[in-house]
Amino acid sequence: MLGDIERLLKDEIGLDSESVGLSVIRHALRERMLATGIADAQRYWTMVSTSRAEVQQLIDAVIVPETWFFRDREAFAGMARYARTDIKRRPIRLLSLPCSTGEEAYTMAMAMFDAGFGPEDFVVEARDVSLRNLELAEIAVYGRNSFRGKDLAFRDRYFEVVGGGEYRPIAAVRDRVHFKRANLLDVPEVTRLGSHDIVFCRNLLIYFDRETQDRALDRLQQLLAPNGMLLVGPAESALPVAHGFVSAHLPMVFAFVRAPKGVKSVRPRAPTSIAPAKVSPPKIPLPGARPAVLARPVIGQTATPRPRSLPPKDASSVDLQAASLKAIQHAANGGRLVEAREAALEHIRQYGPSADAHYHLGLVQDAEGNRAGAIQNYRKAIYLAPEHGEALAHLALLLQRQGDDAGAKALNSRLGRIMNRSGS
Ligand SMILES: C[S@@+](CC[C@H](N)C(=O)[O-])C[C@H]1O[C@@H](n2cnc3c(N)ncnc32)[C@H](O)[C@@H]1O
Repeated sequence: MLGDIERLLKDEIGLDSESVGLSVIRHALRERMLATGIADAQRYWTMVSTSRAEVQQLIDAVIVPETWFFRDREAFAGMARYARTDIKRRPIRLLSLPCSTGEEAYTMAMAMFDAGFGPEDFVVEARDVSLRNLELAEIAVYGRNSFRGKDLAFRDRYFEVVGGGEYRPIAAVRDRVHFKRANLLDVPEVTRLGSHDIVFCRNLLIYFDRETQDRALDRLQQLLAPNGMLLVGPAESALPVAHGFVSAHLPMVFAFVRAPKGVKSVRPRAPTSIAPAKVSPPKIPLPGARPAVLARPVIGQTATPRPRSLPPKDASSVDLQAASLKAIQHAANGGRLVEAREAALEHIRQYGPSADAHYHLGLVQDAEGNRAGAIQNYRKAIYLAPEHGEALAHLALLLQRQGDDAGAKALNSRLGRIMNRSGS
């Protein structure tokens, strides 16, 4: 029975039970049986296999909606920079798929305003397979969980208070974003969506197995205009390069453009899915990394174009160690796994153990399907920096995948405490 539900979810939305852990599917099943008043699992299966409405409810119960405003902040600065320098058409077409409860899509609009674009310059399409999430996105009332990290200045600029500690994006932001249901794996639905200049597809591919990732990447190719840019999540950065994309060379942004003709993409032999960050880690900036600086919002006024920055070439003027860490991160962001591994190993050889080097080594091994190696490196990172949120979140997920629910829970609680303390 549980196997039937697993198969159904895989067929419907591509969910790989191994990546979320069977306990998540069991929990969703229990939730739906309770809601429908059906106590017998076999009877529930009979019901769900004949009711589209119940399939949707089951999807809504199983998906991971985790998201927040300005998640991986650099991505939005990178988007605005690319829009400014590389996209000529107006309005610029932006897509957030999956958009979950809307935070990412609204953030895209805020970042475009921050960069000096006017309301007529862009439009944000937002899609998700969960109707429940889309309803919340349209209501657009957000509490504490949607505002994480310390820099919340954007909230004063773009939100109105609705009371009870909740906020709503102002109309100028809401008006730029259009929500609708879509399944990334549904070819006719994706075809109807048309082409976009910038596509955010973050923290979804991690829930797919290899074959489904291949299909999803084909759909993403289809969704992009010829000079469009694709942004994926940190744990997904190895995937686009294996599917006809090359790095867009935006530092600290997991961004890709289509490979120029003649540049061959290499489909990896090893599995490339990495553990999903179910519990969201606070972003731990690397030493020397420059935070994205957003301009004050002047809605409708054009900002001065800024040149695309490149990774540091001359290390003599900067701290060598920080530059070496940046190089590791840059290679990992670009999905260049071998280069990232070599750079991390060289860093450790030269400067001794480092939490960030071990974390990136873990990410690479995770991407290559070397679970044991990844666990070892995440553990080393946490040993060296007990509050390394990303290493904690990734390790928690790997433990959960291995069935070590208690270990995963302990790490998640630790992560929760760190995030609370940091005001997330
Ligand atoms: C973890 S959220 C990511 C939200 C946002 N992109 C971010 O990174 O913060 C994952 C979302 O993927 C959606 N989803 C799952 N399978 C999908 C599919 N096949 N097509 C479209 N959306 C899907 C879920 O409903 C959920 O809202």
